[in-house]
Amino acid sequence: MTEKELLEIAKKVRENAYAPYSNFKVGAAILTEEGKIFTGVNVENASYGLSICAERVALFKAISEGYRRFKAIAVVADTNEPVPPCGACRQVLAEFGSLKVIMGNLKGDMKVKDLSELLPESFTPQNLRR
Ligand code: THU
Repeated sequence: MTEKELLEIAKKVRENAYAPYSNFKVGAAILTEEGKIFTGVNVENASYGLSICAERVALFKAISEGYRRFKAIAVVADTNEPVPPCGACRQVLAEFGSLKVIMGNLKGDMKVKDLSELLPESFTPQNLRR
């Protein structure tokens, strides 16, 4: 599975995004260490603050199916620059260790960074140790 292929999967699922309020559709695809892929889209709500990002939907689908270790997550939106994951998603992803974050847009631009670069010195389960 190449970075481009994972991004293509995210691009395809993006069409299922439920974003009637922002009209900003986002697609995500997360790759487990075992090679399984789970997709996600943003799901908005009339009570706006209850909306959830595509990245967390993809992650939670994987977690709920028993997966805990991840290689990469791709995220894509119709933006000028490759779309970066929001701070909340960075924190939620960091719970399960670092992974490659593949950011893209519909024009085909791509940027890859490690989550540890996007969220340095993150608060993780290790930090709960006393
Ligand atoms: N959104 C995502 O799904 N992922 C991101 O990385 C950025 C933001 C969603 C949340 C909201 O539904 C819409 O995009 C506009 O912020």
